[in-house]
Amino acid sequence: MHPTDATTTLTLTRPDDWHLHVRDGDVLGTVVPHTAAQFARAIIMPNLKPPVTTVEQAQAYAGRIRAVLPPGSDFTPLMTLYLTDRLDPAEIRRAGATRAATHQAPIVAAKLYPAGATTNSDAGVTDIRRIYPVLEAMQREGLLLLVHGEVTSPDIDLFDREAVFIEEQLIPLRRDFPELRIVMEHITTREAAHYVRDAGPHTAATITAHHLLFNRNAIFTGGIRPHYYCLPVLKRETHRLALVEAATSGNPRFFLGTDSAPHPAHLKEHASGCAGCYTAHAALEMYAQAFDAAGALDKLEGFASFHGADFYGLPRNSGTRTLQRMDWQTPTQFPFGAAELKPLQGGETLPWKLLPA
Ligand code: NCD
Ligand code: ZN
Repeated sequence: MHPTDATTTLTLTRPDDWHLHVRDGDVLGTVVPHTAAQFARAIIMPNLKPPVTTVEQAQAYAGRIRAVLPPGSDFTPLMTLYLTDRLDPAEIRRAGATRAATHQAPIVAAKLYPAGATTNSDAGVTDIRRIYPVLEAMQREGLLLLVHGEVTSPDIDLFDREAVFIEEQLIPLRRDFPELRIVMEHITTREAAHYVRDAGPHTAATITAHHLLFNRNAIFTGGIRPHYYCLPVLKRETHRLALVEAATSGNPRFFLGTDSAPHPAHLKEHASGCAGCYTAHAALEMYAQAFDAAGALDKLEGFASFHGADFYGLPRNSGTRTLQRMDWQTPTQFPFGAAELKPLQGGETLPWKLLPA
């Protein structure tokens, strides 16, 4: 059946989230169940303080995530390591071994944060050439490289940092490691969408719901709106349109990654507010809205449920989830340890609702 304007329900194979932040400690109990209610698996970002740099830390972190799952949930956290200048290639070999066994928490990728690019990236890589032995080990082990694709130089305009990263860093990296599977995370520009489209079978990208729905005006509408501030920052409308085109193109190298990134509300509503938008509680609904607006609901299942698993070389999920066209009002806040968490579009009306499993 082809979804149309009149489509009122949309059933998808169970989807996965290929880029997610859940933090640690007592906030896990709020955010992990939101994701587990929507997705079968999620790639868990390692930018904790201190970062997740060893197999042992990743496995322990996975255990803490599993401990807050609702009873009966079969959600699987897919773990990642945080690349630093000093990571030992032997750690990559140990990570590779977690994929062979039927691990409850396989480590499937490592994340490259250019030092200083975003939240908790101080320990990130200062020069990609320093980690070439690690990248060689990853290419050998079949671990994916996940990239935060922005240069960090203060001389480069904030809105140009993704495009400059592609030219200065990603193109040489791609050339030097032709077999390494690379995911450019949360792309935000036409340059990135076109680069990934043309970069061959081993390069993919995740796209967030908020970058499909909003352009940079959202940050400044009627006053400064810190809950729309994330990195890479929202861009102008031409870029949003290029992202929508990529996501709805059916190209299997574009797939869903929410980059849901919770921060306590008081640190977002702050003179130096944190970067990150919280969308985990309504992620599929937001993606459905974006695909619907583009007249491309028929492309949502590939993007949300197939392309990521295929690129990672993991099995597709069984089972389905159903979205219904119905207006509903999103919650304005959630408990977040001793603080509160304000989601993106809190209190607003969304046109699609995920039905309970
Ligand atoms: C993320 C976070 O808060 O951890 N923030 C964000 O704005 N996306 C980090 C990241 O993915 O860049
Ligand atoms: Zn992120």
